[in-house]
Amino acid sequence: MTTAVYPGSFDPTTNGHLDIICRASKIVNKLIVAPLINLSKVHTFTMDERVEHLKILTAHMPNVEVKPFDGLLVNFARNNDAKIIIRGLRAVTDFEYEFQMALANRNLAPDIETLFVSTSVQHLYLSSSMVKEVAQFGGDISNMIPSQIKNLVLEKFSKVV
Ligand code: PNS
Repeated sequence: MTTAVYPGSFDPTTNGHLDIICRASKIVNKLIVAPLINLSKVHTFTMDERVEHLKILTAHMPNVEVKPFDGLLVNFARNNDAKIIIRGLRAVTDFEYEFQMALANRNLAPDIETLFVSTSVQHLYLSSSMVKEVAQFGGDISNMIPSQIKNLVLEKFSKVV
């Protein structure tokens, strides 16, 4: 049985993230989508909110589990019997950071492999920060985030603005 972890901030989950989740879930037996509990980073969405978004979006995917983690990713992967880390790649700009992270993880855990899944072309420009910036200034985020969580995401910004 192949288990993979797809870690990230998911602050919030974008159409790009969901695309990677759908595609990765088709190539492994079990996919654990793992939002990071990062105490040193200020997230716009609380962990409960990020988990709620991910659970709504993956409810119909029987082999996908949503499980937050803290500490080292490779330890979380090991504790969950996952031998694969999934990361999405958009443009060349992602490459250096992703490659560095993959090498650091391999150094820590040579038995765990990072697999890069290329983004679909329509999501090339997308990032959580861009979604937040557009939403903050009242722009239309309809084609950036999944429709099932649009209102939950917008609610946050109507409180902030
Ligand atoms: O969506 P993001 O913010 O690019 O995800 C980054 C993430 C969560 C994958 C990365 O920060 C991470 O794995 N953090 C856990 C700490 C860790 O294992 N660090 C060592 C590898 S760089």
